Amino acid sequence: MTSPDIELADTSTAVPGAEWWRTAVIYQIYPRSFSDSSGDGIGDLPGITSRLDDLRSLGVDALWLSPFQRSPQKDAGYDVSDYCDVDPLFGTLADFDELLDQAHRRGIRLIVDLVPNHSSDQHRWFQEALAAGPGSRERARYLFRDGRGLDGDVPPNNWESIFGGPAWTRVVEADGSLGQWYLHLFDSSQPDFDWSNEEVREEFRRILRFWLDRGVDGFRVDVAHGLIKAEGLPDYSPDPEGGSMGGDEEGVPYWGQPGVHEVYRDWHAVLAEYDGDRALCAEAWRPTPEETALWVRPDEMHQAFNFPYLETEWDAAALRDVITESLRAFGSVGAPSTWVLSNHDVVRHASRLALTAENPQGHGIGPKSVGKPIADVGLRRARAATTVMLGLPGSAYLYQGEELGLPEVIDLDDDTRQDPTWFRTGGERYGRDGCRVPLPWSSDAPAYGFSATGESWLPQPAEWATLAREVQAEDEASTLSLYRALLAARRARHLGEGTLEWLDGFDAQVLAFRNGNVTVVANTGSTPVALPDGIVIAASGPLGRATIPADTAVWLADD
Ligand code: NOJ
Repeated sequence: MTSPDIELADTSTAVPGAEWWRTAVIYQIYPRSFSDSSGDGIGDLPGITSRLDDLRSLGVDALWLSPFQRSPQKDAGYDVSDYCDVDPLFGTLADFDELLDQAHRRGIRLIVDLVPNHSSDQHRWFQEALAAGPGSRERARYLFRDGRGLDGDVPPNNWESIFGGPAWTRVVEADGSLGQWYLHLFDSSQPDFDWSNEEVREEFRRILRFWLDRGVDGFRVDVAHGLIKAEGLPDYSPDPEGGSMGGDEEGVPYWGQPGVHEVYRDWHAVLAEYDGDRALCAEAWRPTPEETALWVRPDEMHQAFNFPYLETEWDAAALRDVITESLRAFGSVGAPSTWVLSNHDVVRHASRLALTAENPQGHGIGPKSVGKPIADVGLRRARAATTVMLGLPGSAYLYQGEELGLPEVIDLDDDTRQDPTWFRTGGERYGRDGCRVPLPWSSDAPAYGFSATGESWLPQPAEWATLAREVQAEDEASTLSLYRALLAARRARHLGEGTLEWLDGFDAQVLAFRNGNVTVVANTGSTPVALPDGIVIAASGPLGRATIPADTAVWLADD
């Protein structure tokens, strides 16, 4: 690692309206797949620290780390058994402190993942709840209920797990008899907390403070729409076509219950005790920007992922609608809009944007899927879509590997898959492993530089040799070079702080807007369109002499 410039992040108390998170480009690290320093085939915290200079040269403002806390890894770390420790797979608390310090020295902020909806079944509290029995204070921290039917052998309600199968599991009581059931919206190893219990609330205030005291810049909050369940836990049958995070439906008794907002008002106050404009970002899958904006009212969270934007197809009119609505809805509560195209739960956008069949979120794609993408089309659209996204005002999230144009890995063998979705649906849904394959760093090293031993917890495709970061760094036409150019120009021209103005008079397949002194024009159609006047400062692909080819976007400046 080269020694960093001492370019300390400004962590002074923010001027309202100028907080870093309003305009930041935040890069998601999925620790197990980023960089492995120990050689066990699973990425780790020292691995991240060793690559910080690459992230600085990419030009991002902040990092979000998916969970690295202690966990049996039944859902890749989203099953936490100790919220205030680092899982030995990823290192130690000292490794975390070093990573945070080294990131801050490079002017990069760091937010960590917090998983408040559920813990692991190996969490001390859940083990105590099992031992303590029905009616105990220990059970009241989770959602234990008696079963229905004569012998209590029918689950308390009909809810299904987001990962497939029932959302309830029956326990064996200490005396060996079949006993109560507990709720798990996700895997059976992820029991849901009861957020009406003050003890749970107090515990999470403690956890927030633990990480804030260490100096983190904020939290990405997992399942932020799910903590509160409707009174009485009424039956509910989801739409079978709905996405696995279930955000597209109304009236779901476990999503978006009004009481959830009280929790975030409380957390807002905890963060406000600290200097340096610490931030909360909601993972709340809601159908519209309007509903998502409820999570970022002035006294709640600071940001919420814009999943309606992520779910929008590559189509000029649809994009214009969702962008307009996002800026309106988030703006109406004084929050920035965020933008995101990929994360560890969705098909990578270099593949998703060229799918030719419906693919609900979380289902994934594999060898037997219909409507598989054509790789070239997907990459071209992904580069254009990112060129549009990074031209928008507000804050943008990038997912590790998208800067290399990585596609979804479709041809994973069944026996390598690890997502609980795959197991809980008996292989009916492939799940999310295809977007989680470890990154390629260099073309000719073992595991493409991910791990010195050549180990990799999911196999990397041979084609990734040509996509390795080292190879792309030398190639001006690479996706990495495009991301670097876009991020540098975005920063230099203050596009994050800008204001969007739509430009009319173009073909229906064209999306065109102005942000500050930059004009962004994207051709989402399949035929070329005229290239407007201006100096080309970035283009997602080769341009014609005076045309923008299909699936291509460009940034033009006046000077
Ligand atoms: C959302 C996370 O992003 C996903 O990866 C996880 O499986 C679920 N929440 C459950 O924690």
